[in-house]
Amino acid sequence: MSEPFISVKNIKKYFSLDDYKVAKSKVRYVHAVDYVSFDIQRGEIFGIIGESGSGKSTIGRCILRLIDIDSGEIYFDGTDITHMGKKEMNALRPRMQMVFQNPLASFNPKKTLRFSLEGSARIHKIKTEEYKKRLSQLMEYIGLSEDMLSRYPSGISGGQLQRLAIVRALMLSPDFILADEPVSALDVSVQANILNLMLDLKNDYNQTILFISHDLNVVRHVCDRVAVVYLGAIMEMGPVEEVYAHVHHPYTEALISAKPKEHPLSEKEHILLEGDIPNAIDIKDGCRFAGRCRYFREGLCSHRTPKLREIGNGHFAACHFPINVD
Ligand SMILES: Nc1ncnc2c1ncn2[C@@H]1O[C@H](COP(=O)(O)OP(=O)(O)OP(=O)(O)O)[C@@H](O)[C@H]1O
Ligand SMILES: [Mg+2]
Repeated sequence: MSEPFISVKNIKKYFSLDDYKVAKSKVRYVHAVDYVSFDIQRGEIFGIIGESGSGKSTIGRCILRLIDIDSGEIYFDGTDITHMGKKEMNALRPRMQMVFQNPLASFNPKKTLRFSLEGSARIHKIKTEEYKKRLSQLMEYIGLSEDMLSRYPSGISGGQLQRLAIVRALMLSPDFILADEPVSALDVSVQANILNLMLDLKNDYNQTILFISHDLNVVRHVCDRVAVVYLGAIMEMGPVEEVYAHVHHPYTEALISAKPKEHPLSEKEHILLEGDIPNAIDIKDGCRFAGRCRYFREGLCSHRTPKLREIGNGHFAACHFPINVD
C-alpha cells in the first residue's frame, strides 16, 4: 500500500478541568483523545463515528493542529507536522480545509456569500481573475447559479448553504477536507444531496476526506473505512461494509442495532445501550465499555484494557472477546 496521506500515531489529548489553584496531583482531566492511531489513504473517505462527547471533533482539531496534542505524532502527506511552527503551518493551511456542522453559523451574516467564498483566496493572495474563475467552475460543479452569491447567508436554504460551505472549502483546491458532522443540522431530504457531493469529490478529484458523524447510515453511505470511538479511544476500525457485515465489538453492535429500523414492522433485535455515555474523566483500568457491555466477563474485562488488534481483513477491534469471529 502507498504511503498514507494522513497518519495519526498514538495521539493523546487531555483537557484539564481544574485551574492552577489545585495541587497538580489533584487536577482532573477529560480523556478526550486517548492514544488514537489510524491512517487515511489519499482519495479515501475515512469516517469517525461515536456518541456525543466521544472525542470525534477533538481528534479532527488535533489533526489540523487547531489544538496541540499532549503526545503522539501527526503526519500530513509524509511530513511530520506534530511540532511544526506557526509560519510553516500557515503555509500548509490552504491544503487542509474544514466543513462544519452548522452552515449558518460558519458564514458571516453581514457579508454576501460571494464575499465569504472569495475570502480565503483573497487572504492567500490568489489573483482575482483566478479565484473568480475557480468560483464559477465550482458553482457549476455543484449545480447552483452564481446569481445566488449576491445574497446573504440567511437568504438561502440550509442545504444550499452547506453546499456553498463545501465550495468555500474547495476554493483553495485542498488535499484534505475535515467534514465534522456536515449533514447533522440538515433535513433528511437534503442530506443525500450533500453526501453525494462528497462522493463526487472523491470520484472526480480523488479528494481525501475525514468524515465525522454520529449517524451510522450516513457513514455507511459515504465512507470507505470507519473508526468507532468511545470515550476517546478507538473500539473498532475497518472497511465500512466489513464492519457492518461482521461487527466484532459489542459497542458497535449496540450502535448498529440502536439505529432506527428501516421498516417499522421489521423484527430486528434492538439492543439497548443502557445509561448515558460515562464521563471521560475517571477512566479506570479494564475495558472502558465494560459497564455497558452485555458480554462483560469479570476478570479480563474489568482489569485489563484491550488493545486494538487486527482480527482479519484490515478489521480491528479492541475487545477481549470479539463477537462474530469464526
Ligand atoms: N476545550 C475543551 N475543554 C475541556 N473539555 C473539552 C474541550 N473540548 C472538548 N472537551 C471535552 O472532550 C470530550 C470530547 O469532546 P468532543 O467535542 O471531541 O466530542 P464529540 O465526539 O465531537 O461530541 P459531539 O458529537 O457532541 O460533537 C468531551 O467530554 C468534551 O466535553
Ligand atoms: Mg463534535
